[in-house]
Amino acid sequence: MPEHRVLVLNGPNLGRLGARQPEVYGSMTLLELGQVVTDQAEKLGLTAEVRQTDGEAELVSWLHEAVDTHSDVVLNPAAFTHYSYALHDAAVLVPEAGLTLIEVHISNPYAREIFRHTSVISSVATGVIMGLGIDSYLLALTAIAKRLPSSR
Ligand code: DQA
Repeated sequence: MPEHRVLVLNGPNLGRLGARQPEVYGSMTLLELGQVVTDQAEKLGLTAEVRQTDGEAELVSWLHEAVDTHSDVVLNPAAFTHYSYALHDAAVLVPEAGLTLIEVHISNPYAREIFRHTSVISSVATGVIMGLGIDSYLLALTAIAKRLPSSR
């Protein structure tokens, strides 16, 4: 069976999960989230690679890598969601290459501060899942698995 690779990319401050505002983001660390996500991916026949960076340039380069390696993407852009046109411009390349890009959020940004009500990524994402904790990631993987053309 061919390998279906998914890059699960996390933006700034998500490396602090577990310690960062647990009332908003829960008590799971990024390491634990990564384990749950990779296990679920395996069950779905996917190979997930979970990464986190605080840097916009690195996140942009990972989106380019997704295009070059034909990987689908689960993207939690974190605060970059709300203002990074560089990330928007990189994200659009993923669906343009025929790949799936799901924007995810642990919290529901629309239930929070006004500045979080804008996403510059959603308009180019294949789909958006938010407010469901780590299930946002797991549902994104399910969506990716269901969308896979059998030949890819
Ligand atoms: C977040 C929501 C963003 O507004 C915030 O900046 C984050 C995390 C989420 O997963 O709920 O860092 O993307």
